[in-house]
Amino acid sequence: MCGIVGYIGEREVIPVLIEGLRRLEYRGYDSAGVVFFIDSRLELIKKKGRIFELEEEIFKRLPKGAKAPGLGHTRWATHGEPSEANAHPHTDCTKTLALVHNGIIENYQQLKKELKEKGHEFSSSTDTEVIAHLVEEHLKNKDNIKDAFFSAVSELKGAYAVCLISEKEPDKIFVARNQSPVVIGVGEGENFIASDIPALLPFTRRVMFLNDGEFAIVSREKVEVFDSKGNKIEREITEISWDIASAEKGGYPHFMLKEICEQPDAIKHTLLGRINLDTMEIDFEKEGLLKELFERVKKIFVVACGTSYHAGMVAKYLIEKDVGIPVEVDLASEFRYRSPLIDENTLFIAVSQSGETADTLAGLRLAKNKGAKILSICNVLGSTIARESDVVLYTQAGPEISVASTKAFTTQVIVFILLSLYLRRLFFNEDVSQKIKTLLDAPTKLQSFIERVRPDINEIAKRWYTVKNALYLGRNILYPIALEGALKLKEISYIHAEGYAAGEMKHGPIALIEENVPSVIVAAKETGIIYEKTLSNAEEVKSRRGPVIAVVSEGAEEFKRLADELIEVPLTSYELLPIFYVVPLQLLAYEIAALRGCDIDKPRNLAKSVTVE
Ligand code: F6R
Repeated sequence: MCGIVGYIGEREVIPVLIEGLRRLEYRGYDSAGVVFFIDSRLELIKKKGRIFELEEEIFKRLPKGAKAPGLGHTRWATHGEPSEANAHPHTDCTKTLALVHNGIIENYQQLKKELKEKGHEFSSSTDTEVIAHLVEEHLKNKDNIKDAFFSAVSELKGAYAVCLISEKEPDKIFVARNQSPVVIGVGEGENFIASDIPALLPFTRRVMFLNDGEFAIVSREKVEVFDSKGNKIEREITEISWDIASAEKGGYPHFMLKEICEQPDAIKHTLLGRINLDTMEIDFEKEGLLKELFERVKKIFVVACGTSYHAGMVAKYLIEKDVGIPVEVDLASEFRYRSPLIDENTLFIAVSQSGETADTLAGLRLAKNKGAKILSICNVLGSTIARESDVVLYTQAGPEISVASTKAFTTQVIVFILLSLYLRRLFFNEDVSQKIKTLLDAPTKLQSFIERVRPDINEIAKRWYTVKNALYLGRNILYPIALEGALKLKEISYIHAEGYAAGEMKHGPIALIEENVPSVIVAAKETGIIYEKTLSNAEEVKSRRGPVIAVVSEGAEEFKRLADELIEVPLTSYELLPIFYVVPLQLLAYEIAALRGCDIDKPRNLAKSVTVE
């Protein structure tokens, strides 16, 4: 998730770009860059690190006579490590056009190969640079940038918001959008472009949105919008009333809620590029995960902390059930100080949003020393855990700012689902295409579920936010979800919450049941006999006068009868249950913490990245 800004007008271009970038820094910040004009030539300045480091670099170089149009970019690496070479803007071979991009170009490898064969020379390992060379290539038989840009963009597959400027037509910024956000800020004799509204608010509150597949040509005096076929269309101007702080959160009161609601998109991006839509096959090869890796694997260790550990627990259910390889899941802080039985037939999987968690890293190093192959599932490109692994599968969740992890968890689970389906195909030649279709449909289905369930959960939270204790119960693949639900509640609302395997309840925790201790029970009909067993546990709670908040499958009549509160979850596949059941628990924790007036995005005593033991 990167941030883009663009400006065309009479103002000093560099301060406008830097101001916009600063307001987009929350979208990611491993490198940044700007491009503008000096004496009709493009001038680029890029820097690894944060925006202030780019500013220092600009200050050192003191560019005189800098003029608009200009573009700026703050990068959150997806392809290619964070470095100056990989930072945007990117240029073509002639260095007369420059562009910035947010998103993932899925077919960039193919395009890059073709362009190299035609003699183009690349100077980065990004997917983005391909677009610049593709426009250059089209310019060989088109006499204007608009046609070359439109033709180049129509060859791209994937998600993109792209802005381009060129020496050939220095009075325009060319914009294209598909599945990545971009918004145009409309001024008087000047116009602005940004990935998100906060970057525009210091300059204008009048904006125009682009839809997927649309293009725009932005000059000082006007903004022209075109559909995917190049036909001109009218676009109305919207007046923005948000203040800057709420705009950064996309209008949400907290990053946590924003990130909960972003999960359908985060999942979509994690799936994108890993599924060949023609063959319905999962492809990890371009990420370096080759099938040979699994030839010798006799045992898998999944090691992680906190929420990432819960994703690891889900993996055990998925892989042992359908792939048949034993999976041991361990808390990293325990794993590193015991004597795990590891050899060269062991695959060690580290799961970490930040890629910097000290205990997980120590576990990884221990396993590596004992000869295990290391696979990591990380969200932050180029993080230490990622760098020290043999193979990395990145969750494409974008930066997670709220300390309480939400979209990182669901995307970690998605990577594990993909991995388990990949292994089923590899080992048993199983036809998993139907399962893959269900996965592809999941983001849309999750989106409408979130929209439907939010108001109900808000009402439920109003009735329970004053309790002091809560139990979370689940079985099988929903057991880790019960643990995760309890973790979310305790960390952001400071209510004592215990997650338990529902069947284990009668061995102790049942003593806690009383009128003021609600049990949040997760049960899915898709789990068959396990659903029945969880229902019996719910009855045990009820018969001791314990309130039940049931998070259960749509149409679960048995629970309607006994539950004090009912949250109905749409039916889905076994693999996707953790995704659909964790979301209402995230929302419940969030709404309760909000009613208690807690500092949701920065809970007391917690840090986003735990780099010490
Ligand atoms: C809980 C939470 C933490 C992290 C844990 C591991 O909401 O965020 O429990 O999951 O600190 O962090 P990563 O995944 O960065 O290794």
